[in-house]
Amino acid sequence: MKILILANLEDRHIAQIEAVAPDVELMVTTDRNMAISLAPEAEVMVGWNLPREAIARAPNLRWIHSTAAGVDQLLFPEVLERDILVTTSSGIHAIPLCEHVFAMLLALSRRLHHAICQQIHHRWDRRGCVGGELGGGTLGILGLGHIGVELAKRAAAFEMRVIGTKRTPSPVPYVERVLPPEGLDEVLAESDAVVIALPLTPQTRGLIGERELRLMKPTAFLINVGRGPIVQEAALLRALQEGWIAGAGLDVFEQEPLPPDSPFYDLENVILTPHVAGTSPRYMDRAIPLFCENLARYVRGEMLLNVVDKERGY
Ligand code: GLV
Repeated sequence: MKILILANLEDRHIAQIEAVAPDVELMVTTDRNMAISLAPEAEVMVGWNLPREAIARAPNLRWIHSTAAGVDQLLFPEVLERDILVTTSSGIHAIPLCEHVFAMLLALSRRLHHAICQQIHHRWDRRGCVGGELGGGTLGILGLGHIGVELAKRAAAFEMRVIGTKRTPSPVPYVERVLPPEGLDEVLAESDAVVIALPLTPQTRGLIGERELRLMKPTAFLINVGRGPIVQEAALLRALQEGWIAGAGLDVFEQEPLPPDSPFYDLENVILTPHVAGTSPRYMDRAIPLFCENLARYVRGEMLLNVVDKERGY
C-alpha cells in the first residue's frame, strides 16, 4: 500500500506511522507538484489542501485523511462521486483554537489592539484604552460541536453565561440554552460576543448577512474561526464601518490569503489573523497519532474515526 502525505513531517512522525504499518510505502512531500506526480500510485492520501489534480489522477485512491477539521476545500466532485472514504482531524484543535478565540475576545474587550497601536507610536493615552468586561456577559456559540463544547467550558471560567446552537440539540455542559439552528436569531440578539465554530456546508454558506448582523447588539463582538464564506463579507464590512456591531476577530476570509488591498486590514475595530487559530507547534504531534489510529483500523478493515458524511459536508 502506498500512502502519499502532503505535509511537513518530522522523522518522529514518520517513525510513528511506520510502527503502525511497517509494510506501507510512504511518499512524503511538501511540494504540491510533486504530490500531483506521485498521486497515480497512492491508495491513501493525507494532507490539508490536497490538490484536486492529485485526486483526479489517482485511480487507486480509496481513502483521504485530512489533517484539518474542515473538509470543505477537499470535497471536489471527484471525491463526492467516487467511492473514496474521507476522514478528518476533528478533535485535535481545541486547545489552540479556544485560546485563540479568548485571546481575540479579551483583546477586543480590554482594547489591547488600541493599546498596541499607541505603544507603536510611543503614546500614553488612557482614554482609548479603557476596556469592558467579559464576565457577566453572554457568549453565543454557533456550532456546539467539539470546539463549541470546549469554548463553553472556558467561557464558564470567565463567568460568562453561554447559549448556542447545535444541529441536533442536546444538553451541553456550561451551556444554559442549546437551540436548534433555527434559534440563530435569538442567540445573535442576546449575546455580547458571538463565536462562529461551524463547518462550511451548503446550509452555513452565507448564514450571517446584513439581517443577522443587525440583530446583534451594537456593543457585541463577532469572532469567526470557522470558515470565511459563512459570513457575507460585504455586509460584515458595513457592520464594522457603521457600528452595527462593536468589533470582530477574524481568522478566516472568503478569499485567502486576504488580498493586501482588503479594507479589513484598515478597520481599527478588527483583529485579524491569517487562518492560524487552530495551529500550534504541537499540531502534528496531535494529528499524526490520530492518523495512525485510523491507519491501524484501515489495515485491519475496521471502521475509521471521524468519517465525513459527504452529503452533510462534515
Ligand atoms: C483549519 O481550518 C481546519 O479546518 O482544521
